[in-house]
Amino acid sequence: MRNPIIAANWKMFKTVDETLAYIEEFLPLVSGTGTEVVLAPPFTALKAASAALTGSRVQLAGQNLHWEADGAYTGEVSARMLADAGCSYVIIGHSERRQYFGETDETVNLKIKAALEAGLEPIVCVGESLEEREAGQTLNVIRRQVNGALTGLKKEHLDGMVLAYEPIWAIGTGLTATPEQAGEVHGWIREMLAAFSQNGLGQSIRIQYGGSVKPENINDLMAQPDIDGALVGGASLKPDSFSRIVNFR
Ligand code: PGA
Repeated sequence: MRNPIIAANWKMFKTVDETLAYIEEFLPLVSGTGTEVVLAPPFTALKAASAALTGSRVQLAGQNLHWEADGAYTGEVSARMLADAGCSYVIIGHSERRQYFGETDETVNLKIKAALEAGLEPIVCVGESLEEREAGQTLNVIRRQVNGALTGLKKEHLDGMVLAYEPIWAIGTGLTATPEQAGEVHGWIREMLAAFSQNGLGQSIRIQYGGSVKPENINDLMAQPDIDGALVGGASLKPDSFSRIVNFR
């Protein structure tokens, strides 16, 4: 049985004070949930968020990392630094990172390895653009991204890993993939994982859907058998709407 996991990707939003005010309002709203809940604030708010989340079951994620352990990489943050700031997860390969910051399947793979090395669980994002979908390339793109992400990894590394299917055309646009469209791609990803591991990983790994998830569509998405949670951008920025997503059903 896969326990649902719902994560808030705050992107470049919220100061420390805004983060603390959010957490204060949010925690009582989700205290009854059995779903795993993850917040990904900006780096600058991680340490304060970690302190504020002490004693709760809400986990923290970084939004990105560098694959080297340390070194002369101005502006970058390592896996060990994220773990030290209280993270247990890190988002890797978000389409905004791929699109605006030159991330490739190769760097995604290096980042996954660095995260695992430091004891962080990666939330690995994959997804096709509108042009790719319209050209009938969705399956090929997802296969390339999943295979690229997993290259050189051992089966045992993947146990706690989370994948997020985020069609680029659905991110921040208000256009959600239909539950059937999302469910179809999730099913493909599960088959790819099964082929990779041959040890039941295809069934055990959790796959989130992301792209304009809101309180109004979470139930239909979660009703799909292969959708195990959500990666939420815009609708995660307010405690009220994100808690309604977390408390789906
Ligand atoms: P959105 O973003 O929910 O605002 O579409 C999702 C994401 O980018 O992870």
